[in-house]
Amino acid sequence: MLNFSFENTTKILFGEGQIASIRKNIPSDAKVLVTYGGGSIKNNGVFDQVSDALSNHTWFEFSGIEPNPSYDTLMEAQDTIKEHNINFILAVGGGSVVDGSKFIAAAALFEGDEPWDIVSKQARIRKALPLACVLTLPATGSESNTGAVVTRDGNKLPFQSPLVRPIFAVLDPAVTLSLSERQISNGVVDAFVHTMEQYLTYSVNAKVQDRFAEGLLLTLIEEGPKALAPETSKDIEIRGNIMWAATMALNGLIGSGVPQDWATHMIGHELTGTHGIDHARTLSIVLPAVMKVCAKAKREKLLQFAERIWNLTEGDEDSRINRAIELTEQFFETMQVPTRLSHVELGKGDIDLLIEKLKQHGMLKLGEHGDITPDVSRKILETAL
Ligand code: NZQ
Ligand code: ZN
Repeated sequence: MLNFSFENTTKILFGEGQIASIRKNIPSDAKVLVTYGGGSIKNNGVFDQVSDALSNHTWFEFSGIEPNPSYDTLMEAQDTIKEHNINFILAVGGGSVVDGSKFIAAAALFEGDEPWDIVSKQARIRKALPLACVLTLPATGSESNTGAVVTRDGNKLPFQSPLVRPIFAVLDPAVTLSLSERQISNGVVDAFVHTMEQYLTYSVNAKVQDRFAEGLLLTLIEEGPKALAPETSKDIEIRGNIMWAATMALNGLIGSGVPQDWATHMIGHELTGTHGIDHARTLSIVLPAVMKVCAKAKREKLLQFAERIWNLTEGDEDSRINRAIELTEQFFETMQVPTRLSHVELGKGDIDLLIEKLKQHGMLKLGEHGDITPDVSRKILETAL
């Protein structure tokens, strides 16, 4: 196992009815900005629960944070923050709202030239407003991690800071019942790929991390399709297991002390930035191709994945690996997400621009060995055709 330091300070408030407990978890004298997206929380009762819980607080609202939050929208929140001396942000929504609010929190106290530098130049964040969240879409892990992704003019770029990790996160599985099938699928697939990016690398004999990761993969494979099936789609326990799996998939735990990949995500971000494809749907297209193109470097872990996730123990090694990739694709198909560029109407002619974007964004040495150069990324995209 590699050396690591692990810390996760986000207090998790899990279960039905937990939105009420934000009342005692936000300082009573705080001036709160409630941030949210396009209005789903107004239709499913979440906004009402939040306003009830904040009835003794002073609070304001900022809405309109869109999926793949845009820099321009997020900067609009700064006027409200200044005008009302906001000193606490409560993000209510999915990964985009939480990510966007992380950026808002950091931009509010940024002392450099322009807050975009946080993303474009990875400028150090020295201060940020305290932030907490009520998660409504299990997927990204943003509710208890230090990362966020922001988009400007088709450039979708990540940043990280321990100062934007949410202080607490409410995970009430009941609020996920209003999700569309598409968003349920997206969430399960995103969490699955987060786990894979920290698991499917090379072995460092990290048994705990491996078995935690395998537990998450098996849970998502088992529960994901049930959340789509009509007879079980309203089952809160299924939603709860998916929600907790998604948080655990990217809260730092399974990634501690192990090599990590993230090539699928970085290539996927270019597909979203350039073509607006949902985040998870880029991952279901790219991951199988990464597994194929990088099969040699990932061989040992692919065999472990084949055995422990898909019970493949018979036949020669290559056929077990190929079958494991096939079964992963079949799982994605069951979750109703695309697995080829052609499924989202992209073809060979679109690859040049994506490679150009990867180069522009400095994504020149991806993967756990840093050997996924733009040429290898091209091969991955060609394999995904
Ligand atoms: O905006 P509203 O009206 O709330 O609607 C949203 C949005 O249209 C809707 N929604 C959310 N909760 C709902 C709901 N609809 C009905 N009922 C509910 N309970 O779902 C739509 C998509 O929401 P979004 O927040 O965009 O989805 P997701 O949670 O998948 O977040 C995706 C974003 O997170 C980033 C992605 O790149 C993308 O920008 N990621 C963040 C990461 C992180 N911070 O660690 C890691 C991830 O890999 C990912 O990159
Ligand atoms: Zn993701």
